Amino acid sequence: MGWDVTALPDARGRTVVVTGANAGVGYWTSEQLARAGAHVVLACRDPERAEAAVSTIRRRVPRATVEAMPLDVTDRRSIDAAADALLAQDRVDALVLNAGIVHPPRERRTDEEGNELVLSTNVLGHFRLVARALPALERMPGSRIVTLGSLASRLGRVRLDDLQLKDSYTSWRAYSGSKVAAQVFGFELDRRLRAAGSTVQSVVVHPGYSTSGRTPGIRGVNQPSRAKRFVDNLQAAWTQGKDDGAHVPVRAVLDPAVAGGDYLGPAAWTKGAPVHTPATRASRSPRLGAALWPLFEQASGQPFPLP
Ligand SMILES: NC(=O)c1ccc[n+]([C@@H]2O[C@H](COP(=O)([O-])OP(=O)(O)OC[C@H]3O[C@@H](n4cnc5c(N)ncnc54)[C@H](OP(=O)(O)O)[C@@H]3O)[C@@H](O)[C@H]2O)c1
Repeated sequence: MGWDVTALPDARGRTVVVTGANAGVGYWTSEQLARAGAHVVLACRDPERAEAAVSTIRRRVPRATVEAMPLDVTDRRSIDAAADALLAQDRVDALVLNAGIVHPPRERRTDEEGNELVLSTNVLGHFRLVARALPALERMPGSRIVTLGSLASRLGRVRLDDLQLKDSYTSWRAYSGSKVAAQVFGFELDRRLRAAGSTVQSVVVHPGYSTSGRTPGIRGVNQPSRAKRFVDNLQAAWTQGKDDGAHVPVRAVLDPAVAGGDYLGPAAWTKGAPVHTPATRASRSPRLGAALWPLFEQASGQPFPLP
């Protein structure tokens, strides 16, 4: 079915939480959802950047209702406090798991718990957040959890024998492996929610290839250098702005025809309107999902409340 990004359904009365919402795809997802009338909670690690994004949305979208919430997805205390804040919300209709490292460090780094930083940021923190905040979503029939995957999932793989890349770290393996793992998480979550008879839907999306140099400039939110604009514009044939990339998670949140287990991305793979698209077999593998789930539980220090 078609989807018109210029005529979004009325989202007034609904609350959506977006992680990593102060920049990039997360910012534009928040702005577009606010424009559709949703109350948007921008969950960000840096209070100043969060405030810049919140005040920018208020300036650009008349009558927007937005608020900032502190969240560093690599910090357990911060995740747990954010989960408690979600449980205290009147309603949570959707949670967009967007925060991520897209340019991983060259050398392997770890968070305070000793988990590899890219896996921690792109998967483990969200795993813990969802595990703890799930009752908030369960209260709203048909609520959604939207996980940001990537086209990189087509090129990378998860190393079950070295998930944390202790012996085989490269920045590319860290990023692509984390995005395979994120997609596996999203689809395994869908299977577990269905098996438990939950009405919460888990949807996985990827925003194609969206660059900041092709994105409108906004002070405090997106300020690419001239050189970056120049280089990104050279790639215009196969890239789009992060404002366009955000159309995909926005559809995943708002389209009533989207169902748990769906995978959405841009129509022309790297760019274009948001459509249903095929995910890799590995991402959808129940065997890989079952193998990774206990590893996620162990590394995140959080048993998941679904069998
Ligand atoms: N852009 C693409 O082409 C593309 C393609 C495939 C998938 N994706 C996925 O889409 C998502 C957004 O990507 P993007 O291009 O918009 O990236 P981005 O512009 O670099 O934005 C990343 C966001 O995540 C936040 N973040 C990073 N580490 C965090 C942490 N520990 N706790 C909380 N927030 C944190 C950043 O906050 P700070 O400002 O504080 O760093 C920022 O708000 C990512 O999951 C990425 O993997 C993007």
